[in-house]
Amino acid sequence: MSIASDTAIAAAMDDPEDVLGLILDPKRRGSLYPYFHRLRELSPVHPTEQATGKPAWVLTRYADVRNALKHPDMRSDHRGVDVFDSGPSGRAFYEMQLDTLLFMEPRKHDRVRALISRAFTPRSVELREERIQEIVEELIDRVEGTGRMDVVADYAFLLPVVVICEMLGVPADDLPRFYDWAEASSRRGEIGQINEERIREGEEATNGYRDYFLELIDQHRKQPRFDLMTALIEAEDEEGPLSDNDLVGSCYILLQAGHGTTQDLLGMGTLALLQNSEQLEVLRREPGAIPTAVEELLRYDTSVQISQRVSDVPIRIGDREIPADQVCVLFNGAANRDPAEFPDPDVLDITRSPNPHISFGLGRHTCLGQSLARMELHIALETLLRRLPHLTLDGEPRYRDSLFLRGLATLPVRF
Ligand code: HEM
Repeated sequence: MSIASDTAIAAAMDDPEDVLGLILDPKRRGSLYPYFHRLRELSPVHPTEQATGKPAWVLTRYADVRNALKHPDMRSDHRGVDVFDSGPSGRAFYEMQLDTLLFMEPRKHDRVRALISRAFTPRSVELREERIQEIVEELIDRVEGTGRMDVVADYAFLLPVVVICEMLGVPADDLPRFYDWAEASSRRGEIGQINEERIREGEEATNGYRDYFLELIDQHRKQPRFDLMTALIEAEDEEGPLSDNDLVGSCYILLQAGHGTTQDLLGMGTLALLQNSEQLEVLRREPGAIPTAVEELLRYDTSVQISQRVSDVPIRIGDREIPADQVCVLFNGAANRDPAEFPDPDVLDITRSPNPHISFGLGRHTCLGQSLARMELHIALETLLRRLPHLTLDGEPRYRDSLFLRGLATLPVRF
C-alpha cells in the first residue's frame, strides 16, 4: 500500500475508532502516519478502550504529549504495567517491569535513576567512541566484498547489542542467549496483542534474564571489574546499595531499552534516507550535517512509538478532562509529525533546526541512554555512507508487526 493511497483512505474516514483500529492493526506498520494525522484531526484527545482494553485516552498532538510528559501530576508507574497484566501465568514478566525505571513509583525511581546515573556517566559513554567505530568498520568489512546486505541483520542489529553488553560486562560468548530473550520480551510488551504463546515466551525470557543476571552479579561481587555492572553494584547512597531486584531490573532495562531502540532507529533512518535520495545526496556531500540528520531521522520515524502516563487526580489535556487513574497513551510518532509544531512534518529535511522532537521522551523518564544512542547513530551512519557510497534498496523492506517498539524486520540493500 502506498503512502498516497493510505492518505486517501485515511482522509475518507470519519470515525476516530476506525482510524485507531487501523493504527493498531499489525499488518499496516509501513503506513502509520496518514492515520496519525487523521486521528489528530478527528479526535486529538481520544477516549477509547481499544488501545489497552480499559478506558484510556490516546493523545496525538505535540503540545498535549509534551504536556503529559512534563506534567507534575502525570506518572509512569504500576498502572502503566497493568496493561500487560495477564494473571498468574504471566507474573514473572509483569513483576520484572515493576523493577524497571520506567514503571517504579516516583520516589524510588528518582533514587534508582540517580544511582544508575552515577554508574552510567557521560565519561563511560565517551570511552565507547573508539570501540563503536571499530565495531561498525568490522561489520562493513564482513559484507563489503559481497555487494549486498540486510541492513537490519548485518549492521543495525549487531552494533547496539554488542555495545551495551560490553558496557555491562556481559561476556561476548553469552550474547546469542539474549537475542531470543530480547525479542520475546519486546513481543510480550506489545500493546493489545497478548496471547498464550507470547505470555509463555515472555515468562521464559524473563526467567532467563533474571537467572543470568543474578549469576553475573554474583560473579562481579566476587571479582569486581572495570564495567557498568560493577559500578551499579558499588553505587550507594544514604539508603545503601541497590537491592538484587533493583540490580536485575536495571540490567534488564539497560539491555532491553539500550539495543532494540537504536537498532530500529538505524534501520528506519537508513530506509528514510534511501527513500529520499536528494537528502541522501546532501548528506553524502556534507557529512558535517550528520548531527542534524540524526535528529531529523529520530523525529521522522521513531522506534519508541508509545509512552504511557497516568494521574492520581483529574487533569486537563487540551479541552478534555481526563479522570484520575485513566491511562493516557501518548503516540510519540504522531506528536513528532504534528504540523502545529513542525512545518511540513512529512518532509524529511536533514538540516531541520530547531527540531524539538520528543523521541527520547521528556521530564522524569527522559531517555537515560540518549547520548550513547546519538553517538552510535552518528558513527554508524557516517561510516555506512562513507564506506558504501553506492548504497541502494535491493527489494522490499519489511516492518515487524510491533507498534510500541517500531522497526524493520529486514532492509535489503546493494552497493
Ligand atoms: C534511538 C534510540 C533510543 C530511543 C528512541 C529511546 C527512547 C526512549 C524513550 C522515549 C524513553 C522514555 C519512555 C517514557 O517516558 O515512557 C526512554 C527511556 C529510557 N531509555 Fe531510551 N531510547 C533509546 C536508546 C537508549 C539507550 C541506548 C539506552 C541505554 C543504554 C536507553 C536507556 C533508557 C532507559 C534506562 C530509560 C528509562 C528512563 C527512566 O524511566 O527514567 N535508551 N528511551
